[in-house]
Amino acid sequence: MAIKTTISLIKCDVGSLAGHYIVPKPLLNIAEKNLKQAEETGLINSYYVFNAGDDLQLLMVHQKGESDPEIHRLAYSTFREAADKALELKLYGAGQDLLKDAFSGNIRGMGPGVAEMEIEERGADPIVIFAADKTSAGAFNFPLFRIFADPMNTAGLVIDPNMAGGFKFEVMDTMDNTKVTLKTPEETYDLIALIGTVQRYMVSRVWRATDNLICATGSVTRLSQIAGKYVGKDDPVMITRAQHGLPAVGEILVPFMHSYLVEGWMRGSHWGPIMPVGLKDSKCTAFDGPPRLVALGFQVSNGKIACDDTGKPMIADMFDDPAFDIARREAQELACTLRRMGEFEPARLGPEEMEYTTLQQTLEKLKERFKPA
Ligand code: F6R
Ligand code: MG
Ligand code: MG
Repeated sequence: MAIKTTISLIKCDVGSLAGHYIVPKPLLNIAEKNLKQAEETGLINSYYVFNAGDDLQLLMVHQKGESDPEIHRLAYSTFREAADKALELKLYGAGQDLLKDAFSGNIRGMGPGVAEMEIEERGADPIVIFAADKTSAGAFNFPLFRIFADPMNTAGLVIDPNMAGGFKFEVMDTMDNTKVTLKTPEETYDLIALIGTVQRYMVSRVWRATDNLICATGSVTRLSQIAGKYVGKDDPVMITRAQHGLPAVGEILVPFMHSYLVEGWMRGSHWGPIMPVGLKDSKCTAFDGPPRLVALGFQVSNGKIACDDTGKPMIADMFDDPAFDIARREAQELACTLRRMGEFEPARLGPEEMEYTTLQQTLEKLKERFKPA
């Protein structure tokens, strides 16, 4: 029997340094302490704490399965403790994403973002996780399509017979809270028709069609729908599985050689260029952006992250590489082009996405002054 291992990537904006810029060290230390303790007691087997801009990211590898109440409680109590520290330090937006107070077994729907994947370990199982700041889960639609359904991106779709059967995409309708599964290549056009609408339809899971092998899972939430008002974008996370009959790590990364536009950026109300960066540049500056994306690679090994000689998990900082310099350059140029347009569409999001912002208040205020034309 193959070992069953779960990868949980759970994240939360618990407060940050100098506005919505970065998770400062004291908060990272709290996460480090709690996850180390959980590793010592055997609740989790491995962990890695990092930040995507102002979002505290907990990567945990364990054998408790998805949606495990103990794992979710660990994440919740860690975020709570870090938020309390943020409050004490008067950091900005302390407890921002902890929208609900009473934890009842699952952190989903409480504000934090969750991507989880239980796998049966193959001979060797390479994993790439993604974490973005200042954008929403729809930002992953385009690269997920390219990775798993575009033969011009993923040579394996053409060359590797194990991929010839195609992939299945689970798509969430985040407005109606429904989901549908579409199969590529047969339903490619229908898939694009849906997930091209990145603000509403978001890819939540991908499987290999021939054997239902899970190969990608993303955090799909709409914070605004949980909170009932505008509370910023959801800053998504995603887990992908690579190689040996799945897209290669290189095929998973190649869509990010170019920047592309995502919703989010300043006040979650603008189109902005995604900028793939190494961990050292995982921080949002100009116009609270441009939206940043980090990618970390590792090997899952007997229920853990494969470690070095000292027992430290080996983590590859995949965008810390000159191969993505052009994407970063393009992101800078696109950012300048869009910012020259100020608050005029399409730099600013359309009115449907502005529903929780002052646009509504402006319309309300001017209501009486509108006369028949
Ligand atoms: C976007 C984001 C920031 C804030 C902006 C205003 O997701 O977090 O761009 O929306 O800095 O923040 P407040 O309203 O807290 O002053
Ligand atoms: Mg923030
Ligand atoms: Mg954030």
